[in-house]
Amino acid sequence: MRRIESRIDTGSSQFATNTSANVELAATLRERQQFVIDGGRGRARSIERHLARNKVMVRDRIDMVIDDGSPFLELSMLAAWGLHDDEVPGAGIVTGIGLVHGRPYVLIANDATVKGGSLVPMSIKKHVRAQDIAAENGLGVIYLVDSGGAFLPLQDEVFPDKDHFGGSFYRQARLSAAGLPQMSVVLGGCTAGGAYVPALSDEVIMVNGTGRIFLGGPPIVKAALGEIIEPDDLGGAEVHTRISGVSDYIADSETEAYGRLRELCEATNQRRIDDPAGWLDHIDPEPPAFDPSELYGIISADDRIPFDATEIIARLVDGSRFSEFKPEWGETIVCGFARIWGHLVGIVANNGIIFSEAALKATHFIELCEQRRVPLLFLQNTSGYMVGSDAERGGIAKNGAKMVAAVANATVPKYTVLTGGAYGAGNYGMCGRGFNPRFLFAWPNSRIATMSAETAQTVLVDIRRGGLKADETSDEQLDAIAREVREQYETQSDPYYATSRIWDDGLIDPVDTRDVLGLCLALAARQDEPAPGPGIVYRM
Ligand code: COA
Repeated sequence: MRRIESRIDTGSSQFATNTSANVELAATLRERQQFVIDGGRGRARSIERHLARNKVMVRDRIDMVIDDGSPFLELSMLAAWGLHDDEVPGAGIVTGIGLVHGRPYVLIANDATVKGGSLVPMSIKKHVRAQDIAAENGLGVIYLVDSGGAFLPLQDEVFPDKDHFGGSFYRQARLSAAGLPQMSVVLGGCTAGGAYVPALSDEVIMVNGTGRIFLGGPPIVKAALGEIIEPDDLGGAEVHTRISGVSDYIADSETEAYGRLRELCEATNQRRIDDPAGWLDHIDPEPPAFDPSELYGIISADDRIPFDATEIIARLVDGSRFSEFKPEWGETIVCGFARIWGHLVGIVANNGIIFSEAALKATHFIELCEQRRVPLLFLQNTSGYMVGSDAERGGIAKNGAKMVAAVANATVPKYTVLTGGAYGAGNYGMCGRGFNPRFLFAWPNSRIATMSAETAQTVLVDIRRGGLKADETSDEQLDAIAREVREQYETQSDPYYATSRIWDDGLIDPVDTRDVLGLCLALAARQDEPAPGPGIVYRM
């Protein structure tokens, strides 16, 4: 593959302006992540109480489970950002992927210092998303359970619907049946919904003195039966390991429990991360020829100024080598083959508005990757598909639809990174969340919405001007509509708004993108080759 020739002038004032803007965005991201790690707002007392009970903080628990030196790809760290007065940092649950005896596992760990580890709407969404990642990537799940179950004041948003609590238990049962180990360590009071996580697990360890499982806690038992009983006598580790059999092992401390868990995970007969199944072409990795930190100087500080996708690719892929497909045609999408950490990958990247030719080129390339069984990486930075009479007469609707259909039906692993704007149907054609990429990460400069704030304000004011209420709407009212719409779109397209609602799997610093994708590809490489689909009907 040929090496990309960079045209970036790293000494230019533009490069310096971009660098300072993007370094600041990355610093803000790290600050916000640290805020979440430190416990969000107003949790000092519950952290103190947790530690006084000899309990370990949630991220330290994960550290004690995974191998020394294992990466931990934490997912949706900023879930619930800005919601619930920031008193539910990370949605009170930590999810991610780490190695245990060299085998990758998804870890789902409740943070009992946040509302007793109970689950608010974003917590259940995060839990279910982690299970879906496990299913698609063929990973076992380790549950570090310390949870009061559903967050009762919001029960209508966490209990009844398809992807609510019931959906998490449905997934757990099916993951187990798919041969993906479901392992639980019970570290605190697990009531009602919290009780079913261990009860549905393949193997369960309980920590004596702190771990408890009951369908109804002592207050409910007292109210229902008049029975007065201590928590440990009702559902402690001794009761469940020696009498009921709900638990399989008892440990005297968290340290002992994690030692036992690691021992159990070693005997689950899962493929190691470095044991690829062999379907995905892999060679020795090579670092990019251009320094990934130059990404800061390339991503435009001003989102109205475009930046070249090829320059981004040059800083993500091995040796900055890229075999570009159809480079002289449909230039607003760049497609081609490259390697990331040695794994072959097909890249589809936007260079602005998607025209018909670009949509057709992308469709052709996606089909090539599908036929050759090469995973697809989408680098999304587009304001959408082209509009206007020329575009309509050229069939942009059906050509865009071809691309959307090809993306929807591609059965090879797909990954998406929002590197800039993710607007309109461009978001769909470039494998947005609705198209089930295995992972979707976003950069802190990204924006996601139906359209930009500027366009939305024009559209909505025009609609009001031309609509039934036109006569009764003054110029001042139109100005107010424009202002409100602009503010709404600016707020809602902010990447923190998006990541808070788990529209992505996390915001990442651009310089970490290559390593994150390398891990994601390694997960796919250790699975068997995904079965191809039956084919698509394209509207010609
Ligand atoms: N819904 C809403 N809030 C809950 C909750 C739940 N299911 N479980 C715990 N909380 C809150 C508590 O109100 C308390 O909030 P505060 O800090 O604002 O006062 C905080 O979480 C800590 O709870 P606390 O009982 O003080 O902690 P603990 O460590 O002594 O006990 C539990 C933790 C989970 C064992 C205990 O709170 C409990 O049994 N909760 C109820 C569980 C239940 O009945 N769930 C039904 C789910 S369907």
